[in-house]
Amino acid sequence: MKIAMIGTGYVGLVSGVCFSDFGHEVICVDKDVDKIARLERGEVPIFEPGLDELLSRNIGAGRLSFTRDLERALEGVQAVFIAVGTPTRRGDGHADLSYVMSAAEEIARAAPQGVVVVTKSTVPVGTNRRVAETIRATNPELDFDVASNPEFLREGAAIDDFMRPDRVVVGVENERAGQVMADIYKPLFLRDFPIVTTDLESAEMIKYAANAFLATKITFINEVAALCEKVGADVKEVAKGIGLDGRIGNKFLHAGPGCGGSCFPKDTKALARMGQEHASSMQIVETVIKVNEETKRRMIDKLLDLCNGSFNGKTVAVLGVTFKPNTDDMRDAPSLTLVPALVGGGAKVRMCDPQGRHEGEALLPGVAWCDDAYAAAQDADLLVILTEWNEFRALDLTRLARGMARPRIADLRNIYEPEIALCAGFDAYTGVGRVLSNDVAIAPVQTAVA
Ligand SMILES: NC(=O)c1ccc[n+]([C@@H]2O[C@H](COP(=O)([O-])OP(=O)(O)OC[C@H]3O[C@@H](n4cnc5c(N)ncnc54)[C@H](O)[C@@H]3O)[C@@H](O)[C@H]2O)c1
Repeated sequence: MKIAMIGTGYVGLVSGVCFSDFGHEVICVDKDVDKIARLERGEVPIFEPGLDELLSRNIGAGRLSFTRDLERALEGVQAVFIAVGTPTRRGDGHADLSYVMSAAEEIARAAPQGVVVVTKSTVPVGTNRRVAETIRATNPELDFDVASNPEFLREGAAIDDFMRPDRVVVGVENERAGQVMADIYKPLFLRDFPIVTTDLESAEMIKYAANAFLATKITFINEVAALCEKVGADVKEVAKGIGLDGRIGNKFLHAGPGCGGSCFPKDTKALARMGQEHASSMQIVETVIKVNEETKRRMIDKLLDLCNGSFNGKTVAVLGVTFKPNTDDMRDAPSLTLVPALVGGGAKVRMCDPQGRHEGEALLPGVAWCDDAYAAAQDADLLVILTEWNEFRALDLTRLARGMARPRIADLRNIYEPEIALCAGFDAYTGVGRVLSNDVAIAPVQTAVA
């Protein structure tokens, strides 16, 4: 099978590399000159565990290549995947389909007869039909089919998710496209991974419904966490107690600073917008969006409490800027809400993140970057754990507390037990949904010397 992948971001690159590992001949296209130059040198432009090794192996085997030349990439392909971005459109929450539609026009001009145009980008229901209309309008002579193949990989575990998926979803309109898709995913089919073959609209909807459901689950536990703080319950115990119920499941029940990332915020907004456009409002999803924003703001209040009501003149160490561990992606990360609030309130912020510095430097002006947690916490008035990187899970709390001017910790991922932090020398610990009767009274903080 010869496949072209348009867009070599988190999804396109991982999918292209994995398809080549299945044995297909894959050529990945991107407009980003720098990205393609790096990939041609065998460098991976994003941080994704295991990707560099798989990439070199398949380049070495002659199955994987990169180009900016779409026309060349489409020569002799049986399938072309669209994996470009679909960010939130400014102003109305709708998914911005301009990249998808311009890719469709470009494909129409250069694709060979009989090609299947597969949309892997997350797109609102009806988009695959619009892609087909665009191709027909641009090149009425082209014989082609469209297919919807939404992607469910998680950044940080993308290769495993792609190679061992819970399911593959394929939306097609006829057998010819169905057969091409079956051939592409044959290595997974042979290993009994479920392939859900359905119509275009259902495939498109599955992706949004899945992401909205997961965002709802996280937001639900975050809201329960807020109530736990008021009533004296521990959200970790509550999550465990409900997660053991097989109908609920224990995944996506970790209370934290609100969900971020490249998918949940934009996909919930796009689904809410879709509901409004079709006069079938998605009230739960609309509430999830609202509660998630409130959760992020609630975290600012927690930090303010630990700083006696003002960030001014305080030194705050923040561990983690990426939206989750094992990625360098900062799109819609909670750090983008919290850190500007700290800086805007007059705090001196020291950051540290195993992979987020490159992106973070551009997005979070006015902060200092440190190489490790101990350097960041030195002389600080508050330590904030914002991303649960493994590096931050087993810190020497005694050493951290000793180095701080005021040893206070806001553990916004609940990775340390409050008692352990207090025994290690912190005089205040705040988690999410678990700072309760054993919360330690906070002594007034002296404003640090600027
Ligand atoms: N990131 C994830 O974890 C994830 C998971 C599942 C689904 N998705 C969906 O997959 C899609 C892609 O997401 P991403 O995170 O990989 O995006 P991304 O922004 O990382 O990458 C998109 C790439 O497409 C390129 N591009 C745009 N237009 C192009 C064109 N006409 N020709 C060639 N290249 C072009 C851009 O230069 C960029 O490199 C989105 O719809 C997203 O919602 C993402």
